[in-house]
Amino acid sequence: MGKTFDIGIDALRTGSSHSAPLSSSPAQGGEGLLGGRSFSSDMPTSFPLGALAPEAATPRKSFFIETFGCQMNVHDSEKVAGVLLGRGYRPAENPAQADLLLYNTCSIREKAAQKVFSRLGDHKLSARNDGKVIGVLGCVAQQEGEEIFERAPWVSLVCGSASYRKLPDLVEQLETGGRRVMGLDLDTDETFETEITRRDNPFRAYLTIIEGCDYSCAYCVVPHTRGPERSRASDSVLDEVRRLADSGYTEIQLLGQTVNSYSDPSPRGMNFVELLRAVAAVPGIRRVRFTTSHPNDFHREIVAAIDEVPALCDHIHLPVQSGSTRILKSMRRTYTRDDYLEKISWMRAARRPISITSDIIVGFPGETDSDFEDTVTLLDQVQYDGVFSFKYSPRPNTPAMSMADAVPEEEKGRRLAILQDRQRQIQIERNEKLVGETFEVLVDGRHASRGQWSGRTTSNRILNFTSSRENILGEYVQVRVTRAGPNSLVGEHVEPS
Ligand code: 5AD
Ligand code: SF4
Repeated sequence: MGKTFDIGIDALRTGSSHSAPLSSSPAQGGEGLLGGRSFSSDMPTSFPLGALAPEAATPRKSFFIETFGCQMNVHDSEKVAGVLLGRGYRPAENPAQADLLLYNTCSIREKAAQKVFSRLGDHKLSARNDGKVIGVLGCVAQQEGEEIFERAPWVSLVCGSASYRKLPDLVEQLETGGRRVMGLDLDTDETFETEITRRDNPFRAYLTIIEGCDYSCAYCVVPHTRGPERSRASDSVLDEVRRLADSGYTEIQLLGQTVNSYSDPSPRGMNFVELLRAVAAVPGIRRVRFTTSHPNDFHREIVAAIDEVPALCDHIHLPVQSGSTRILKSMRRTYTRDDYLEKISWMRAARRPISITSDIIVGFPGETDSDFEDTVTLLDQVQYDGVFSFKYSPRPNTPAMSMADAVPEEEKGRRLAILQDRQRQIQIERNEKLVGETFEVLVDGRHASRGQWSGRTTSNRILNFTSSRENILGEYVQVRVTRAGPNSLVGEHVEPS
């Protein structure tokens, strides 16, 4: 298995190790109120921020990656960028200037899949006339496979999310004149580790600890597109965390479709909580996040660890999907409403207040008014700090695709609006209670026009605030909340007394 190490953005720029972070906003595909979401909006995230090629290297061709989807996709793109940098490619500033243009796209809902085909259409002429090489990566590639070549014959590379280990070979085939190269194997038992990972977020380092998924939720394409669950060896994870700490990162986000199902394949045999504690104990690491947790593998020990270890962030993203036990069963979610609520009660009993967020699908086939009502009452009961809610979208190769009693689109829309409205009220009420409190935030952005800085609390709340200090980007500072909105807080920097 390849050795993994990270080069931060500054290292790419200066050849030195990561020092002061750049003044770019974090490379997120539209994280919501509390971030930590498994799948963000379908907004694209683009590589790179600028021309960051190592000065010593003689740049060959240039590349540009556009990413749609979740943090796992964003991080996959970082690793793909690492592979390309390792082969001497340099980042282009925009798609038009790139010799190699890659789309890394999530297919969890139909919209993202449609978007990539429309983007591919935009580049048909430059592929034909200027020799631009166009590739499709990720879940859409895995899902659509060879059909992509049929629908968009100017595409030269199709590589699914479970086959990234093949990417260097595929790129080599392209370089040596290959016209249509494809990696779509699902039988991989390895994880995607790269010699270089080009990290695009200077403040938060993403790190995949488990790939694929062994659950089989009836609506979900992930088991099909990302393959079976594979955990990464704990030594390899911890080596990478140490290197990240050495290069200046203080915040780590562990990633996996079901991150808490982690099971160390090496003789050390760590479970998820042991790994969490070990990551948090690495000198220099101040914040450890993880997403997404599956309720089935959510145990009390996780809450106990958060209570005991300050570096473990007090935020848990625990998708419920529905508040109706009947629908949960037909979704094959493996837990009931009461099982789920029991897990919530462990978090509510913790000594540290834990912020809880969730994903919810409305309009799953067979969802009645009364099932939907169960979901709305669940919101009231749990009091989430953020919810990502979606209309059910039928996906190919999923069991729900052929289920009876589809809910009409209009009704899905109506339910979504009711749910979002209710949740917005809950967030307003919850956030208002925070006015007057002081939180530590990691400053990760600046709104120059508003004269505000922006950062996140350990509970992943966004806090926009004023400061009399000149430059606090990348610092941990104390901020007192002065106002609250449904999706973020406003405050002022206070110096510790
Ligand atoms: N339709 C709508 N939402 C979906 N999700 C997954 N599959 C679908 C689908 N077919 C949502 C789930 C999941 C989140 C990442 O996306 O809520 O937790
Ligand atoms: Fe999809 Fe279910 Fe696996 Fe999550 S747990 S990735 S929703 S199959």
